[in-house]
Amino acid sequence: MTVRAVVRGVGHYLPKRIVENAEFEATLDTNDEWIRGRSGIERRHFVSEGETTSTMAAAAARAALEMAGMDANEVDAIIVATSTADLTFPSAATMVQAELGMKQGFAFDVQAVCAGFVYGLANANALILSGQARRVMVIGAETFSRIMDWTDRSTCVLFGDGAGALLLEAQDGEGTSADRGILATDLNSDGSYRDLLFVDGGVSTGTTGYLRMQGNQVFRHAVEKLASTATTAMTRAGVEASDIDWVVPHQANIRIIQGTAKKLGLPMEKVVVTVQDHGNTSAASIPLALSVGYSRGQIKTGDLLVTEAIGGGLAWGAVVLRW
Ligand code: ACO
Repeated sequence: MTVRAVVRGVGHYLPKRIVENAEFEATLDTNDEWIRGRSGIERRHFVSEGETTSTMAAAAARAALEMAGMDANEVDAIIVATSTADLTFPSAATMVQAELGMKQGFAFDVQAVCAGFVYGLANANALILSGQARRVMVIGAETFSRIMDWTDRSTCVLFGDGAGALLLEAQDGEGTSADRGILATDLNSDGSYRDLLFVDGGVSTGTTGYLRMQGNQVFRHAVEKLASTATTAMTRAGVEASDIDWVVPHQANIRIIQGTAKKLGLPMEKVVVTVQDHGNTSAASIPLALSVGYSRGQIKTGDLLVTEAIGGGLAWGAVVLRW
């Protein structure tokens, strides 16, 4: 008998305000054709006043709890993957804990930029396998619109806001790849690539700062590292690419998504794609895609999924799980 971290609920929240590519044409030397052609992005959601990473995270968590038919006080831990917590501290996760009325357990943030949700899942899995928690809410939530330089056309058209949540529960499995739940994880980082993708503010500058990215340099790393981490996770899980029902990738760029699927030998029919509607929502993109993929009827109980993500750090990783 093996303990597995099994999905009990999924949910998401997207701010009401939708911004189409064409809106940027009024203030920037850009156009819908460039944005769509280079990234696959058509629109994104942006927060309005009063909406924050923690309010969106709590809304996504409520939706996941509702699906599970559970109360927040039945959850042992909350992990929020984010690079845009409301304040330097306390963590977004403890704010979510308060917002949900959860009076016990513990909550903390994970910061691995766009790879944050994969890191969050790996941490939740470790907490469940080690017996420190039975039920863990893993949330990815971001308000990247608040760290955009609106004069930089090479970044501000790419990102969006939103949140997604996955509720995991310890359940007994057989210890085979036929089990439901997380079957394998793989995490990596290489801090020598710091300058490819960073925010130029923080405690050391006394400012919040703006996102800076050498997009084409990040692109060069993306497909190779994503395919490699996904392959490592699949090997650890004892499954082949041909066993995979759904690839649920980080949604940064359709060309990266297509390139990675091709390298894995998987057709695009097996890839959940939301980048056209959400843009790059960093740590929120995978749980958003899981939740949207589930509500579209794509992801079903028993399906074998591989998720993969890369972001600032560089940090990258993958998780294989059976829904
Ligand atoms: N509109 C019009 N032209 C533009 C725009 C724009 N919005 N932005 C850039 N350009 C121009 C550039 O100035 C450049 O012009 P030049 O050739 O005259 O110098 C030209 O378009 C090509 O620019 P590139 O950056 O080389 O374009 P590329 O094909 O690489 O696409 C993109 C850019 C979409 C950013 C791509 O590189 C990418 O997706 N990179 C990876 C992003 C990513 O995955 N990040 C990791 C996750 S994010 C995180 O962790 C926070």
